[in-house]
Amino acid sequence: MKNQSNIHDLKKRLEELKEQINYHNYLYHVLDSPQISDYDFDQLLVELKEIEEKHPEWITTDSPTQRVGAAPLEKFNKVQHPSPILSLSNAFDEADVRAWYERIHKIDDRVKNANFVVEPKIDGLTVVLHYTNGIFTMGATRGDGFEGEDVTANLKTIRTVPLKIPVDPLGEKAPDVLVVRGEVFITIKEFEALNARLLEAGEKTYQNPRNTAAGSVRQLDPALTASRPLTLLTYAIVECQGREFESELQVLTFLKQMGFPVVEYYYCENLDKALERSRFFLEIRDKMPYEADGSVIKINNLFLSRDLGVVGKDPRGSIAYKFPAREVVTKLIDIGVNVGRTGVLTPYAILEPVNIGGVIVKQATLHNFDFIKDKDIRIGDYVLVKRSGDVIPYVIGPVESKRDGSEKIFSPPEICPACNQPVEHFPGEVAWYCVNSGCPAQLIRNIEHFVSRGAMDIVGLGIKIVEQLVENSLVKDVADLYALKTSQLLNLEGFAEKKAENIINAIQSSKSQSLARLINALGIRGVGEVLSNDLTKYYQDLSALAKASVEELQNIEGVGPNIAQAIVDWFANPKNLEILNKLKKNGVWPVELQRKPESGKALPLAGKTFVITGTLPSFSREQVKEYIESLGGKVTDSVSKKTDYLVLGENPGSKLAKAENLGVKIIDETALREITKL
Ligand code: IVH
Repeated sequence: MKNQSNIHDLKKRLEELKEQINYHNYLYHVLDSPQISDYDFDQLLVELKEIEEKHPEWITTDSPTQRVGAAPLEKFNKVQHPSPILSLSNAFDEADVRAWYERIHKIDDRVKNANFVVEPKIDGLTVVLHYTNGIFTMGATRGDGFEGEDVTANLKTIRTVPLKIPVDPLGEKAPDVLVVRGEVFITIKEFEALNARLLEAGEKTYQNPRNTAAGSVRQLDPALTASRPLTLLTYAIVECQGREFESELQVLTFLKQMGFPVVEYYYCENLDKALERSRFFLEIRDKMPYEADGSVIKINNLFLSRDLGVVGKDPRGSIAYKFPAREVVTKLIDIGVNVGRTGVLTPYAILEPVNIGGVIVKQATLHNFDFIKDKDIRIGDYVLVKRSGDVIPYVIGPVESKRDGSEKIFSPPEICPACNQPVEHFPGEVAWYCVNSGCPAQLIRNIEHFVSRGAMDIVGLGIKIVEQLVENSLVKDVADLYALKTSQLLNLEGFAEKKAENIINAIQSSKSQSLARLINALGIRGVGEVLSNDLTKYYQDLSALAKASVEELQNIEGVGPNIAQAIVDWFANPKNLEILNKLKKNGVWPVELQRKPESGKALPLAGKTFVITGTLPSFSREQVKEYIESLGGKVTDSVSKKTDYLVLGENPGSKLAKAENLGVKIIDETALREITKL
């Protein structure tokens, strides 16, 4: 009897956890207003996972644990849409929009009193989401409008796709069948961060947010989709059993009530207001978090819209008012090559100047040499160039039909354009490198990086001054900065006493920067801010890091064979060793003190296992974990007999009861500091 009630309680707790997690996920990802800490959220997930491990028969498709982890598919199944997933006709200027209005007015006189809803037209991938009795059961791509591909497992990994509706447990009951239409996309910020990560890891970058989003959904491995920062906004209902909606506004309100993320929308009482709103969207286009390629103007009255009917695949009741193109064709006059700080050569397009969405563009990135070859881009070609948001304009590809035979095939340079030394290509990598560490272009970029904010943070030493220092042979490597004297700067153009002194002072005070910053500042290929910081957990100073082997480095999370090799190579280069010697001689030699024990001495927390619950007064969850680990302790997620200490903060989770049950020692932050005797 007791057992049965235990089981009953556990099942109840499981349901409670699923509901809470789905709800907090919604507060965080959809409403952007979390009510609990990330740490407490993770604790709820851990508890749910524990129950599900004990009772796999209780795992349901709407469990938040089921977002990730599905096995890769062999192929996508085809699915019929319940009704055609229509498209929109386009307008390119206000006259087009007014002409549309006149056309539909002629068909139905009610149009003259119509009001509208205006939304941004998101440039992403259309998806169709099916909910049966409130549970997300299937998600499909648009396909040809009649039949799409079943991408359910991939869509489940997107945190903004509700697994169960209504998401708020107190919300109105969901219809038995609900089919919703929306757009999956990647925000511009996330897209840039993704590319920055790829670049740091020496991998190929993506060309634009739309293709990245579409490619991430339309591939067979859900784990890969899960690793991409995809998100969703909905804007229409395809089917809703037992309910008829009178207006777009009602639809959008209902979607919100169910817990869907809904596109930004504006009610406009007449066409002039709708056009005004569209102009406003165009004005703020660059400030929008995602790429929008226009606005959508919809007649609010759904009965009127339905009666107006459809032309081909385009409903008459709505129109897409496209923003001016940001893809423009212009002539590729030449291909230039830049030398980056790690010696990477990057090609760029020198273009016949062209106005793209209000900005004159003369240059655009060509990504890398493989890109030029794959797309068969030739000098003299007409090329399609795109500019979006604040991203550097990029070439999409050639317009082959415009060729006249005079175009020239481009070959990557065999010598560095800045120093004339031979360039190298490493197997398995897309980039070509200038490996001459004395290359002036590289040196300028290197110093620029060395002094930058995330590295040694030497304020006032801008690119112009760096160029002057290199051109006048005052610095031959980064270590020379520390030997500079005010009098030397005074000989340079544009320098007065005060400015020279300020710069020398800034250089000298950067000597006290941390080891992590110095490692990052060295500009080793693949070693950025995050990894530099991680390396200081294992290496106390640069001479310790210089002795590390490829095998040893690969034991560190985030270090693969390429990066490990790049680190070893950097320290094997005599020129770099000379830089290290000079840095040391000049007093630039930070040592990471507290993390390393003296050899032979055990760390104070060695062999002890900790679990943390609740919020601590002066540590974030990551900080306390790092702190315990740096002193030799281990931090795990769940309390077990093996746990030595539970570190208790404010608003603890269920771990507390479990620790009490098992007789685990419970300590607060002060007691934690005491055991570490710090
Ligand atoms: S309404 C009948 N609203 O733009 C309903 N579409 O050709 C037609 N799109 O691929 C769609 N944002 O998926 C609508 N706020 C929005 C939209 C939107 C993006 C996409 C849509 C379709 C294309 C229109």
